[in-house]
Amino acid sequence: MSLGKILTLSNDNTLPQIGLGTWLSKPHEVENAVEIAVRHGYRHLDLARVYQNQDEVGRALKKVIPSVVKREELFITSKLWNNSHQPAEVEKALDETLEQLGLEYLDLYLVHWAVAFPPGKGLFPPHPTKEGEVELDTETSLVDTWKAVIKLPKSKVRAVGVSNFTIAQIEALIAATGVVPIVNQVEAHPLLPQDDLVAYSKEKGIHITAYSPLGNNLVGKPKLTEHKVVQEVADKLGATTAQVLVAWGAYRGYSVIPKSVQESRIHSNFKQVELSKEDYEKITAIGKENRTRFNIPITYNPKWDINLFDEEEEKVAGHKPKVQ
Ligand SMILES: NC(=O)c1ccc[n+]([C@@H]2O[C@H](COP(=O)([O-])OP(=O)(O)OC[C@H]3O[C@@H](n4cnc5c(N)ncnc54)[C@H](OP(=O)(O)O)[C@@H]3O)[C@@H](O)[C@H]2O)c1
Repeated sequence: MSLGKILTLSNDNTLPQIGLGTWLSKPHEVENAVEIAVRHGYRHLDLARVYQNQDEVGRALKKVIPSVVKREELFITSKLWNNSHQPAEVEKALDETLEQLGLEYLDLYLVHWAVAFPPGKGLFPPHPTKEGEVELDTETSLVDTWKAVIKLPKSKVRAVGVSNFTIAQIEALIAATGVVPIVNQVEAHPLLPQDDLVAYSKEKGIHITAYSPLGNNLVGKPKLTEHKVVQEVADKLGATTAQVLVAWGAYRGYSVIPKSVQESRIHSNFKQVELSKEDYEKITAIGKENRTRFNIPITYNPKWDINLFDEEEEKVAGHKPKVQ
C-alpha cells in the first residue's frame, strides 16, 4: 500500500502530502470516510472543532488504532475555534478536542481564523443587535492568543500554527513572540494561488497546507473540477480532474487536503499524478483572470463582519481584527 509523498516541517516532523479534509458532512459520513481513508493509506487527517464531527472521527480512529495503524503513524491536525481565543480558554478547548477524538495528543494545532468571538456562548454567538451576524470579541488580540497557543504543553501538541492568517498578521505574531508558526493553512487552488503568501512562507520556513484544493463547490460558482482546461489536462494524463488539482498543489511543494465522503473519490483523490511544467503552467494560467476565493466569512451565514484579508480586491467593509 502506498502512503504517498512525505514532506518535512520546520520542527523536523514529517507529514504526508495528501490529507483528508473533513468539513461538511451528514451524520456518520465522516466516521465512514476516515475509516475508509486510513484503511486506504491516508495518514494525514484535517479536523476542526467547528466541523462538529470530531466525535465521529474519534469513533473511526478507535476502529483503526491500533489494528490498522499505530497512533504515531498518523498526522492529525485540529484547530482552535474563534470562541476560544481568550488565553484562559485555549488549553481547555484543546482538551475538549482531544477528548472528542479520544487522543492524547495532536500533531498540529492551528488558530483557525484571525478573529475572536466571546467564549461561553456557543460556536457562533449571536450578535446582540445585528441579526444574522456573529458577536465579535474585539478585546482579545491575535498576539494574546498566539502567546497562549505557544505555551501549550508539547505532550498535547507536537506543533502549532495558524490558518487564514495574512503576512502582516504572521509578522505581528513573530515580532511579539519570536515564534514562527510551523504551518499556515489557507485556501489555495488555481483560482487563488496565493503567490505572495506562498513565497513569504517559503522564506520563513512556514509550511503551507492548501485547503479547498478542488474549489470546494459550495457557493454555486462553476466547479473547478469541471473546468475545461483542468479537464483537458486530466484527459491527457488519464487522470481525474481532482487528481490534477491535487497535483497542481503538490507541484508547488505544499500539502493538500481534499475532502470527500465518497469511497471511490477518497481512493482516487489519494492517487498522486505528476504534472509537467507545461501542464502546471497551463492550469496556473486559468487563475490569472478569474481570481476566486470560495471561503469569505462576511458571506457566511451567520456572517462575521470582519475583513480578514490583505489583498486589494478584498477591501470590503468590516472591522479589522485586533492584532496586538
Ligand atoms: N482552515 C480553514 O479555514 C478551512 C476552510 C475550508 C476547508 N478546510 C479544510 O480543507 C478541506 C478541503 O476543503 P473543502 O472541503 O472546502 O473543499 P474541497 O476539498 O476543495 O472540495 C470538497 C468538495 O468536492 C467534492 N469532491 C471530492 N472529491 C471529488 C472528486 N474526485 N471529483 C469531484 N468532486 C469531488 C466533495 O464532495 P463529496 O464529499 O461528495 O465527494 C465536496 O463537495 C476541508 O474539508 C477542511 O478539512 C479548512
